[in-house]
Amino acid sequence: MTHRILILGGTTEARQLAGKLAARADVSLTLTLAGRTENPVAQGVPTRVGGFGGADGLAAYLRETRIELLVDATHPYAAQISANAAAAAREAGVPIVALRRPGWEPAEGDRWTLADSVASAVTALATAPRRVFLALGRQEVAAFEAAPQHHYLIRSVDPVEPRLAVPDATYLLARGPFREADEQALLLEHHIDVVVSKNSGGEATYGKIAAARALGVEVVMIRRPTLPDVASAETVEALAAMVDHLLVGHLLGPAAERGV
Ligand SMILES: NC(=O)c1ccc[n+]([C@@H]2O[C@H](COP(=O)([O-])OP(=O)(O)OC[C@H]3O[C@@H](n4cnc5c(N)ncnc54)[C@H](OP(=O)(O)O)[C@@H]3O)[C@@H](O)[C@H]2O)c1
Repeated sequence: MTHRILILGGTTEARQLAGKLAARADVSLTLTLAGRTENPVAQGVPTRVGGFGGADGLAAYLRETRIELLVDATHPYAAQISANAAAAAREAGVPIVALRRPGWEPAEGDRWTLADSVASAVTALATAPRRVFLALGRQEVAAFEAAPQHHYLIRSVDPVEPRLAVPDATYLLARGPFREADEQALLLEHHIDVVVSKNSGGEATYGKIAAARALGVEVVMIRRPTLPDVASAETVEALAAMVDHLLVGHLLGPAAERGV
């Protein structure tokens, strides 16, 4: 009997987990993406692109496609889909497990200013003109139009369109991972004196944080959103082990078969 698993993705870990699970004969897998990135990296497994229409839409999808396990492997700042996933799993009576990548902790020499939101990160830059590196998604950078006095270096996977209504901005297109040495070179080349970042955790985008520390550059760190409290693991390996435990323990299966 094959078990139907739905992975909510959009992260490297989701792709890695899908790769691991796809090797199993007892699993039938679907990975989903929001559809934000124009040319997403090939996922290597059956992939569905686009939203479900809120928690109710996701719950209906879980029922219709007879999903037996929902895996939330979305980005730590994708709070809406994680909330929807927890609610939909409850509504449809489907077990859920999540990948909760730990955040970065400040280390000796870091100069972090914590901000509660993108809007408060804008305020944290203060009034005097500065040279700011925005390593944020293209949806978030528009908020910085509220502080047009700064010079911005904006890096994104897809072009920021429309361009920001600020007089002084440079745009870079790049997809991680980014090495610390390259990030240092970038900060020096553009005379950056403050980096605005999310606390994404993981290795792929830590280079800019380490580079800022090495150069004594301030980081305005946007705090993580609150995520629903569901069974979770911190790494792909630990999450794969959780899924394995559920499969081996015959804990998955249509509700009727479990006697629910
Ligand atoms: N936020 C970040 O910093 C960040 C960074 C890297 C990657 N990502 C990835 O980019 C995607 C969008 O992030 P976001 O912050 O815009 O999300 P969000 O605000 O939490 O979600 C907004 C809506 O997008 C749809 N959606 C999000 N993730 C989806 C998925 N994996 N599959 C199908 N639908 C999805 C859902 O639409 P419906 O309500 O219609 O179902 C959701 O309500 C996520 O998959 C996330 O893993 C986000």
